[in-house]
Amino acid sequence: MTGVRLEVETHIITGAATAMRNLVKCIQQVGIDVEGLVFSGIASAESVLTDTEKELGVALIDIGGGTTDVALFVDGSIAHSAVIPIGGRNITNDLAIGLRSSLETAEKIKLSLSGQEKKVTRDDDKESLSTGKVGKKEETIDTAKLEIAEELGTLSKKTLIEGIAKPRLTEIFTLIGMEIKRAGFAGLLPAGLVITGGAAGTTLLSQVGKDVLRMPVRVADPRGVSGLIDEISDPAYSVAVGLLLYAEKISIVAPRIGAGLPHGRGLVELVKKLFTKLRGLLP
Ligand SMILES: Nc1ncnc2c1ncn2[C@@H]1O[C@H](COP(=O)(O)OP(=O)(O)OP(=O)(O)O)[C@@H](O)[C@H]1O
Ligand SMILES: [Mg+2]
Repeated sequence: MTGVRLEVETHIITGAATAMRNLVKCIQQVGIDVEGLVFSGIASAESVLTDTEKELGVALIDIGGGTTDVALFVDGSIAHSAVIPIGGRNITNDLAIGLRSSLETAEKIKLSLSGQEKKVTRDDDKESLSTGKVGKKEETIDTAKLEIAEELGTLSKKTLIEGIAKPRLTEIFTLIGMEIKRAGFAGLLPAGLVITGGAAGTTLLSQVGKDVLRMPVRVADPRGVSGLIDEISDPAYSVAVGLLLYAEKISIVAPRIGAGLPHGRGLVELVKKLFTKLRGLLP
């Protein structure tokens, strides 16, 4: 095959060099070698997206503590990515401001709000509070049961969810919508939004996503690993599981020379052990 011109369409993801170096240093200080850095949107895609979703066109949204990662997949590969500097911590901050409480207290209250909904209607949460379908008992939170420092008494769930969490969620989804539009993919993502990350468990999340963006929304746990996975079957672990799957895929596609073999100190130890064993065999 011959040619005079070779073209490629690439999507380049950059990061602040200092932040990346510090991250690598932290990992190395606990004794782990860093093989490479992977954008968390790509890592979580490995553990939560199906091939069909990627082919059709999908927006993977990883809502963490401080950031929301957006990764758009079209025709099977990543087409656009962005990081929005808002996440679950902002909802906690808003609750702390609204309740005049500490961040720790606000976090506990936030988790108690979502805990119930997560169990009842994780994927398709038609919010029962707004439709008034919940019993009297579930409309309030008794903060005395939450082991918090402040005395906040009984709080109305509706006030906390509709008045504090919902506006922040609406902002997050509005910014996601703007990013999709800016990238030129509005109307090109029939598989809709797949939401993961720790804050994916936030109460009312999928409903607000559907209302703001008018797209199908799926909240996803990581898949693709087996064993004792109960603990990690939670959206907060999508990146970690995705990194494992990504590393496995890369090592299959492009195995390093000597990958899997001990090197450095490990190699020296192995040679020493071999010599000791061989000496033991000598008469
Ligand atoms: N059940 C839940 N309901 C609501 N929010 C939750 C729940 N569990 C965890 N969170 C929130 O998820 C956030 C942490 O998510 P995650 O572990 O994905 O963050 P991270 O990856 O460390 O942060 P980042 O991606 O911003 O660097 C916190 O704000 C926490 O309050
Ligand atoms: Mg994250």
